[in-house]
Amino acid sequence: MSSTTPAVVTVTGAAGQIGYAALFRIAAGAMLGHDRPVRLRLLELPHAVSAAEGTAMELDDGAFEQLLSVDIFDDARAAFDGAEFALLIGAKPRARGMERADLLQANAAIFAEQGEVLNDVAAADLRVVVVGNPANTNAAIAAAHAPDIPPERFTALTRLDHNRAIAQLAHRAGCAARDISRVSVWGNHSPTQYPDIFHARVAGRSGADLATDRAWLVDDFIPTVARRGTAIIEARGASSAASAASATIDHIHDWVLGTESDDWTSAALPSPGVYGVPEGLVCSFPVRSVGGRWEIVSGLEINEFSRARIDASVAELAGEITAVGDLLPA
Ligand code: NAD
Ligand code: LMR
Repeated sequence: MSSTTPAVVTVTGAAGQIGYAALFRIAAGAMLGHDRPVRLRLLELPHAVSAAEGTAMELDDGAFEQLLSVDIFDDARAAFDGAEFALLIGAKPRARGMERADLLQANAAIFAEQGEVLNDVAAADLRVVVVGNPANTNAAIAAAHAPDIPPERFTALTRLDHNRAIAQLAHRAGCAARDISRVSVWGNHSPTQYPDIFHARVAGRSGADLATDRAWLVDDFIPTVARRGTAIIEARGASSAASAASATIDHIHDWVLGTESDDWTSAALPSPGVYGVPEGLVCSFPVRSVGGRWEIVSGLEINEFSRARIDASVAELAGEITAVGDLLPA
């Protein structure tokens, strides 16, 4: 597809806080490139359609050169018709004191239904990123309900965790984010996730070198990254929004336009059964995007320290899938 063919982008939860932050950057070309025209399709619950209409008015007022249209729906079948990109943000967010597991049952049904509808009406080259929590398991549920769409087109967002890990490393090393590469986030988008720096490059140093300070790694770096979502909820009284929107845009941008040649990023994809992750679990891996497809970085040595942490997060993912078993097709 030429870069000047309009892209059809459906955003669910468009009137929510992440949707509001994402839409303007998509319209401005941050996601698909400044030369790619975009048609936005916003899906909301009926009671939030009026708010989405207000957002559409503001999008209009942005006079974005590449924004061809904004349409608003409260019906998933209409909203996903012909979608090439589905940003599945719409879901109930976590409030103070809740863990992601509390959201499992509340949100899982949404993704079963949306998977079915995407299967019926989306474009043949559909790409999906699930942001609504619990994102990994919601993506697995949607993929399971879309038997005609290749499962690897269903991804979940762990780019926010990846970006958070880079930011914390930059603070530690006193360098800029651009001086850091090859960070990996493994597992679930939850406090069990494992941000892995053993293969990272940090301003000319190896991440393994930084990791020799085990007290910092175990008591500071890993929990700060893994519990950042909770810290933000405590501080703002609402879950992260602009950073989540930015990471969602980074995810699709790199998926379509490619990762830097000497770097990789992190994304949650259905496991093909590598690195000890059972096939089908939507797990975060270090990934490169080549020719518009995610490829899991192969051949990384996983030491004992990393193995235990990856296994713990994968066990949590397996438990989530068991918990929503009644929503998976037999
Ligand atoms: P929000 O409450 O501000 O907005 C959610 C919007 O989704 C609301 O406007 C609601 O009406 C809409 N919605 C709910 N169900 C819907 C459905 N079935 N179809 C269409 N729209 C629907 O929430 P938010 O802060 O924008 O967060 C959205 C989701 O993203 C939450 O689940 C949150 O936990 C999650 N999140 C994920 C990450 C990540 O890194 N994966 C980061 C931050 C937040
Ligand atoms: C985040 O990581 O900021 C979000 O997933 C919100 C949350 O529930 O932690």
